[in-house]
Amino acid sequence: MDFEDVSFQYPGGSRPVLRGLTLTIRPGERLAVVGGSGAGKTTLVKLLAGLYEPTAGRITADAADLRSLDAAAWRRGMTALFQDFVHYPLTARDNITLAAPEAVGTGDGKILELVRAGGAQTVLDRLESGLDTELWRTGGDGRDLSGGQWQKLAAIRALYAVEHGRRLVVLDEPTAHLDVKAEARFHEQVIGSVGDASVVLISHRLSTVRPADRIVLLQDGRITEEGSHDDLMKLGGEYARLFRLQASRFHGPGSIDREGVEEGR
Ligand SMILES: Nc1ncnc2c1ncn2[C@@H]1O[C@H](COP(=O)(O)OP(=O)(O)OP(=O)(O)O)[C@@H](O)[C@H]1O
Ligand SMILES: [Mg+2]
Repeated sequence: MDFEDVSFQYPGGSRPVLRGLTLTIRPGERLAVVGGSGAGKTTLVKLLAGLYEPTAGRITADAADLRSLDAAAWRRGMTALFQDFVHYPLTARDNITLAAPEAVGTGDGKILELVRAGGAQTVLDRLESGLDTELWRTGGDGRDLSGGQWQKLAAIRALYAVEHGRRLVVLDEPTAHLDVKAEARFHEQVIGSVGDASVVLISHRLSTVRPADRIVLLQDGRITEEGSHDDLMKLGGEYARLFRLQASRFHGPGSIDREGVEEGR
C-alpha cells in the first residue's frame, strides 16, 4: 500500500487536510500514525478504505491505483475499526460476522475462539443468550453495551475479518473507551491475533504505539517524522516532545525527562 504524493480536501472544506503525503504500508508491519487532533489521521484512514478519493496524487495496492479497483473487492482486502465505529442493532453474532459478509456458515465454535483470543469473553458472559443476544434494543429483551464493551466486540469483528482473509487491519483509536488495564490487554490480544496482516494503529496515547515497528507523525498534512519509538526519541523532535509531555502528565512534574516513565501505567 502506497500513498503517493496524496493531497486531499473535503468538498466544501476551506483548506487541504493532506498535502503531498507519501507513505508506504509494508506487508505485515505494525505501523502507528500519530498527530494532533485534526491533523488528518482519520481522513487518511478513510482514504485508505476507499471512502474518499485523493484530490491529487494516488493510493496504490500492488502498484494498482485504488480508483481502478472494484470497491467491493478492495474492502475484502482490508478491515477498519473506525473511531466513530458503528453499533449495529443486531445480535452479538451478526455484529461480529458482518465484517466478512461473504463468509457464510462460520460455526459458532470459530467465533467463540476469536472472542476468547481477542479478550471479549467477559462481554459475552454478560449476555443472557450469548451470541444470539439482540444488542442495542431499548426495551424488549435486547440489551445495550457500554462504550468499552462495544469496542471489545468491534475488535472481534476485526479479528473475524482477518480470519476471512483481510490483509490490512486499520484501528482508529480502538481503545479510547477502555481503561488502562483493558487497553494493555487489547494490544496484547488483538494485535497479537492478527497474524501476518498489516496493522495501522492510530492512537493519542503514545505509550500504546511505542511497540509499533514504525511510527509516523502526521503534521501539516504530511509525514514529518518517521521511525521506531527509540529513533524518534533520539531525534528529539515533536514526537519526543509529545511523548515526554504525556509521560510527565501521568507521573507528575519532576519525571519529565526520565526514560520509560510511562512503563508503570
Ligand atoms: N466530513 C468532513 N467535512 C469537512 N471537513 C472535515 C470532515 N471530516 C473532518 N474534517 C476536517 O478535516 C481535518 C482532519 O480531520 P480528521 O478527523 O482526519 O483528524 P484526526 O487527526 O483524525 O483528529 P482526531 O485526533 O481528533 O481524531 C479537521 O480539520 C476536520 O475538521
Ligand atoms: Mg480521528
